[in-house]
Amino acid sequence: MDRFIINGGNLLEGNVQIKGAKNAILPIIACCIMIKAEVTLHECPHLSDIEAMLKILRAGGGIAKYEEDCLIINCKNFTPYCIDSEYTGALRASLFVIGPLLSAFKSASVSYPGGCEIGLRPIDLHITGLKSLSVSVERSNGKITCDGINMKNSDVFLDFPSVGATENIIMASVLGKGVTRIYNCAKEPEICDLANFINVMGGKVYGAGTDKITVEGVVSLSGGHYFPTKDRIVAGTFLIAGALMGKEVVLDKVNPSHLLPLNEKLIASGASIILDSRRIIVKKSLKRRAVKRTETRPYPGFPTDLQPQFVVYLSQCRGCSVVVENMFENRFNYTAQLQKMGADITVKDRVAIIKGVKKLTQSRVEAKDLRGGVALVLASICAEGESEIWGVRHIDRGYDSIEKDLEGLGVQIKRLKN
Ligand code: UD1
Repeated sequence: MDRFIINGGNLLEGNVQIKGAKNAILPIIACCIMIKAEVTLHECPHLSDIEAMLKILRAGGGIAKYEEDCLIINCKNFTPYCIDSEYTGALRASLFVIGPLLSAFKSASVSYPGGCEIGLRPIDLHITGLKSLSVSVERSNGKITCDGINMKNSDVFLDFPSVGATENIIMASVLGKGVTRIYNCAKEPEICDLANFINVMGGKVYGAGTDKITVEGVVSLSGGHYFPTKDRIVAGTFLIAGALMGKEVVLDKVNPSHLLPLNEKLIASGASIILDSRRIIVKKSLKRRAVKRTETRPYPGFPTDLQPQFVVYLSQCRGCSVVVENMFENRFNYTAQLQKMGADITVKDRVAIIKGVKKLTQSRVEAKDLRGGVALVLASICAEGESEIWGVRHIDRGYDSIEKDLEGLGVQIKRLKN
């Protein structure tokens, strides 16, 4: 029941070090289920979603611990078990264990996943993909039971480039016999990172980052050290914070090419951004213009995970902006809270019309999901006076003690525990 108290209105100045990406680390942790040796992941954030994933490994006899920002995992003694909702209820990414379990043990029994309530989030693409690998899948009593006794690598066509389904099918094929080709797969940087991790550990995954991925089965993976890709969504969040309120905000250890769709929009609206090979420097622009139309799309399109933060930015731009959310049907839920803070936003189905610039005002608001929650933090930084944000547990799923990074930039923010 933690909450943030934020005294807004101050300009932000300083550096933020970006750590490994949650959405890259979660599938990599799942992948460790099929590695019978020690894996060390460097520069990992401390997040409740990561902790929930580690619990799944530990409950099967795996070792998983943090040493400062290093995550050390050893699944040499992992034994498969029926993973019930106590473990899967906390996060959508619990689905990722199905692929590695099938790859290593040819069976998996997992309760339905939880996660942010941003839409229906079906799992049909995961199931169809696994069926293409000759896995028999049964869904009953809230459980997904997979029998992979006759599994073989094969061609898989995805109707939509789902990130999770692409990752699950890659992982299910790593220790399989023969070759899997995934057509119309997702191209997100986190997919490339999973493929890269698997290859560093001795697997054979080719074509990640394109719309066709090939996986050649190998006998086993080895352990080793790995630096997961940096979190482009956390970086994008601070980039937007800087464009809103930055005297000068420097993002260190980022890959600017992963943020192209956001950068383009920010620059088009007049933001002052300097890109380096591993750094971004951003300042508040005095003349922010509306961005006519933004639509969320699979990578390299505009990321749905930055949509709420970008809407806060647009609320502070002169003119009328339109945002279309194509990925998750309930992803505008947070806008009701922004309206409480004075933002002029009208939502109809998947379209939001944002009329800037109305000054945001202090308010008591509630985070109901991760990215919508962090959008409220950005809004509170802009608003004059003291805002109170409840539901901080949602923000903790994807941001490692965000209050410390913000304090470092000069934001007056306190975490209160109830
Ligand atoms: C991942 C990210 C999430 C991000 C999303 C889209 C992780 C842990 N999470 O989620 O932060 O918002 O990508 O970039 O990496 N779909 C189906 N059937 C399926 C699977 C997906 O219809 O079986 C639909 C979804 O409802 C959604 C779209 O496909 O409309 C994209 O979902 P997907 O790419 O699978 O997202 P996730 O892997 O859940």
